[in-house]
Amino acid sequence: MNQLMDLFSLKGKTAAVIGGSGVLGGEMVKALAAAGANVAIFYSSNQSGAQSQQKEVEKLGRRSLVCHADTRDETSLKKAFEEIESEFGGVDILVNAPGVNSVTPVMEIDEEEWDRILDINLKGVFYASRIAAAMMIEKNIKGSIINISSASSEIPLSKVFTYSISKAGVNNMTRFLAREFAPDGIRVNALLPGFFPAEQNRKILTQERTESIFRHTPMQRFGEPSELSGALIWLASNAASSFVTGAVIPVDGGFTSMTI
Ligand SMILES: NC(=O)c1ccc[n+]([C@@H]2O[C@H](COP(=O)([O-])OP(=O)(O)OC[C@H]3O[C@@H](n4cnc5c(N)ncnc54)[C@H](O)[C@@H]3O)[C@@H](O)[C@H]2O)c1
Repeated sequence: MNQLMDLFSLKGKTAAVIGGSGVLGGEMVKALAAAGANVAIFYSSNQSGAQSQQKEVEKLGRRSLVCHADTRDETSLKKAFEEIESEFGGVDILVNAPGVNSVTPVMEIDEEEWDRILDINLKGVFYASRIAAAMMIEKNIKGSIINISSASSEIPLSKVFTYSISKAGVNNMTRFLAREFAPDGIRVNALLPGFFPAEQNRKILTQERTESIFRHTPMQRFGEPSELSGALIWLASNAASSFVTGAVIPVDGGFTSMTI
């Protein structure tokens, strides 16, 4: 049994979590630290959120670093990864969990909103993956990149038009980068969460929409952020998921398998 559990150990590894100050990213920070990793917690505006995650990591006896970066700005991401390199020597695991959302009707979406959502949710995942992969290749680290997709990424979800397109792009990018980086021993996968109340969807989850989501979710409830941890640690660990790359794994109470 202990040998089996060792497959999931991240002891001695360094993880970077973009969006680590958020609700799901914050839970992932704690899960990675509990599995043994030192963690770099990224924030764009919520520094105190990142600092409170840092305390959680340190309570678990791991080292941590708070990094500021805006995923729209490749230079700020590069700078943050340089800080990780000087603190920890490199990065083994990257979790891409930045996210912004909006419910603007299709005919009213302006260029600023379109660019902001696509740039943060999609372009930023590309930039961060490329920077982390370059560091992994340079240091011969057989790393794991985990992107956070969404239930809206495959069959379009009502209201969240631009967000859905950004997450469809994340799925495609996951598969493309899995091909691209496999020769270097780097795996790229995605988690596809269903519905978990958080900051970016607080305004969207009205009572009417919640009822509609529950009607369409075989398990008839929201997820708890900690319910993503098992799949996350499995994907993060090279020993546990060594032959898994290009996968998009739903953790959604059955939402994406339900029709009528
Ligand atoms: N909560 C859900 O139900 C749900 C479902 C599916 C997917 N997701 C995805 O999970 C991830 C985490 O979202 P959450 O629900 O915890 O929301 P959240 O609002 O709590 O977290 C979003 C994170 O994105 C970061 N962020 C925003 N703009 C950024 C920028 N310009 N640069 C860098 N980081 C930026 C924020 O700082 C925050 O840490 C997102 O990718 C989201 O799309 C969430």
